[in-house]
Amino acid sequence: MTTSFLAACRKQPTDAVPVWFMRQAGRYQPEYQELRKRYSLMDIVRNPRVCQQVTSLPVEQLGVDAAILFSDIMVPIEAMGVTVEIKENVGPVIASPIRSKADVDKLRHLDTKQQLPYVLESIELLKGSLSVPLIGFAGAPFTLASYMVEGGPSRNYVFTKQLMWSHDDVWQSLMDKLGDMIIEFLTAQVKAGAAAVQLFDSWAGSLAPADYRRYLLPTMKRVFSALSKLGVPTIYFVGTNGQLLEPLSESGADVLGLDWRVPVAEARSRTSGRVAFQGNLDSTVLFAPWSVIEEKTREILDQATMEPGFIFNLGQSLVHHTPPVNPDTLRRLTEFVHDYSRSRLGAGRN
Ligand code: CP3
Repeated sequence: MTTSFLAACRKQPTDAVPVWFMRQAGRYQPEYQELRKRYSLMDIVRNPRVCQQVTSLPVEQLGVDAAILFSDIMVPIEAMGVTVEIKENVGPVIASPIRSKADVDKLRHLDTKQQLPYVLESIELLKGSLSVPLIGFAGAPFTLASYMVEGGPSRNYVFTKQLMWSHDDVWQSLMDKLGDMIIEFLTAQVKAGAAAVQLFDSWAGSLAPADYRRYLLPTMKRVFSALSKLGVPTIYFVGTNGQLLEPLSESGADVLGLDWRVPVAEARSRTSGRVAFQGNLDSTVLFAPWSVIEEKTREILDQATMEPGFIFNLGQSLVHHTPPVNPDTLRRLTEFVHDYSRSRLGAGRN
């Protein structure tokens, strides 16, 4: 078992910087596209053997140091009683958005074992077969709320922010229900064998720090406090997070995702060494020539290797663009991060 990923989450020294990629399983892989001819996204999630195969593929192909369970942030939302359709090239769509107190009151409590047994079966299968730690995950309350309240992907989150600013009680009740769901879901995932957990808050970067502190931070603190009792590292990814680093570092997460707009050394100094970081390559650099990818990666690693507690990843999820990122590029990048960081860390010790 490669444990450098878990050590880095705990800010312990490692021989090399560990690597994985957000959304490392998906359409850029010809094998995934082949499987998708026969199975929908939800078919894969509901079929533990296929889920095991899709989750393992990037580990075998890219040589990454962690696997992330193949699922989607909307899977437990369906189980709470909201009908979700995941539309290709669009994202999750909800025909009846959640906008009133009555809508929030109707949301059901999640029972993972009863309602999503296949998620736990997939984790159990993976635990027995993977050579690297498995990351379990859930969507974070703001990002989940944004899909539920808007009814689909959004640019400005008008209905979500309107609810947040206008109806404190309804907003808090929605945050409470989503917080409870996340604690239940991730606790079940860890019991089944997940070695770390990540919360995806892709759209919370749309908030100013004061609003983040007032409307989200209390819920995030409650969630991370509950998750910390599970004894596995917790990772919190927020998209476009430069302005939020200080409040995010107070959430109680062990590791923060870091986008490419803030250098690692600055992020560390602004958070006083409270957290480890995961990031922070611009995902679209993967479409540039190799020399540019290597230069940007070297710049990140020169700073990152100054202290323990860094996991190389993208600053946001892999862009599943057409033409797609070449899997060979990701394999070469993984090897480069390992080799270059090993030489830097080895040199530091002499
Ligand atoms: O390797 C992995 O990370 C796969 C597991 C995974 C998926 N979605 C599978 C998926 C994870 C961790 C997610 C998280 C997720 N889902 C997020 C947070 C991460 C991020 O990207 O910021 C969000 C915002 C969603 C909601 C969602 N689901 C979107 C925006 C999309 C893309 C729509 C599209 O077609 O481009 C989905 C669908 C989805 N989830 C796909 C996959 C592989 C594409 C489905 C397909 O066509 O096969």
